[in-house]
Amino acid sequence: MTLATTTQVQATRPTLAGAALAYMTGFGNEFATEALPGALPVGRNSPQRCPYGLYAEQLSGTAFTMPRWLNRRTWTYRIRPGAMHEPFRRVDGGRVVAAFGDTVVPPNQMRWDPLPIPAEPVDWIDGWVTMAGNGSAASMSGCAVHLYAANRSMEGRYFANADGELLVLPQQGRVRFRTELGTLEVAPTEIAVIPRGVRFAAELPDGPSRGYVCENFGSLFRIPDLGAIGSNGLANPRDFETPVAAYEDREGRFELVTKFMGQRWVAAIDHSPLDVVAWHGNYAPYRYDLKRFNVIGSISYDHPDPSIFLVLQSQSAVPGVDAIDFVVFAPRILAMQDTFRPPWFHRNVASEFMGLIEGVYDAKAEGFQPGGASLHNSWTGHGPDARTFEEQSRIDTSKPTVIRDTMAFMVETCLPYFPTRAALESAQLQPEYYRCWQGLAKHFDPSRP
Ligand code: FE2
Repeated sequence: MTLATTTQVQATRPTLAGAALAYMTGFGNEFATEALPGALPVGRNSPQRCPYGLYAEQLSGTAFTMPRWLNRRTWTYRIRPGAMHEPFRRVDGGRVVAAFGDTVVPPNQMRWDPLPIPAEPVDWIDGWVTMAGNGSAASMSGCAVHLYAANRSMEGRYFANADGELLVLPQQGRVRFRTELGTLEVAPTEIAVIPRGVRFAAELPDGPSRGYVCENFGSLFRIPDLGAIGSNGLANPRDFETPVAAYEDREGRFELVTKFMGQRWVAAIDHSPLDVVAWHGNYAPYRYDLKRFNVIGSISYDHPDPSIFLVLQSQSAVPGVDAIDFVVFAPRILAMQDTFRPPWFHRNVASEFMGLIEGVYDAKAEGFQPGGASLHNSWTGHGPDARTFEEQSRIDTSKPTVIRDTMAFMVETCLPYFPTRAALESAQLQPEYYRCWQGLAKHFDPSRP
């Protein structure tokens, strides 16, 4: 168990600008952290009176009766309970969707250019557009993939997503999440995971920003078992970082925004909900630097299935079948001999939504831009484009290939993706994407084995 402290957030500087951020390491650890000394009760969770006159409140991320190794909950000690706000009223939710399955899905390969940065002021939660998803928030299964493009910090309002856990991947510009459990900041090639229901404000210290959000309606993300790999490798637990407690004691006229069953609701609140002075537990936000991913691959011939690149998984009820596999195609060295080294041509039962944080994805010579996206649904044929195939089928595989400039990722799901109307009618959709395979030559010659 880790005990860490940090300084109190000053009421006059609620943005934490310039404040040093501190983190505790480990995945799903039983953390304990306090921003004032002695704020955590000792020996019990709910004493008759808490230190400093704080209120105790439990935040449960799993059923009370889940097995111990899957059970997630956090005890918070806060200035006011989370129940203190006025009633929510429904407002326009913009281009966000949280239920899928009743739209027509083209079985085509799809790819999009990056979202443009908006010209008008748009904060982080207003900048979302849902691209695709499956399942629903109401069934607590499946996922949604959103893109965001925004240019200013959330001011005077706070957000919580009751529909799912948020996996955030900035592609341009950092995002600083001031959450009720502490502040974490992520830059491009890093990810943040904000648990379902945790309240926060998102700041954009670099201004114009863009990225991806995977919303997980189902079981919480976890790091995978390693099987024959052994006790180390892929995303190592110590590289996950959870912020220490930080709070603001701030009163005023604010908005508490929540997304519940896909709808946006707003309530007036007369104080900051980021008022947790101390907490202990294992249900908390975390961040991870994808550049720390320990890439494992073949050192003889062929390459493993891309499940070898698994960072986080959301397991389904079927053993061995994940509702979500979050995999990363990170910089790596390819040394397999007499092997076509890029991803092969394939058609899968799984469905694949991809994004590119930086550089070039090794299966596509052109057209897949950082900030862009692609969707290959189940059984949709795809793979290297014609130029990549021709080049890579001729390289000297006695020498290694070093892939330095890349960071692509995939949110792979066991259910088909339903692209949204916004995605299908997007100005960024590339109608000519299919042409990247049309130039593949016929090499077949029955007279030459
Ligand atoms: Fe694929």
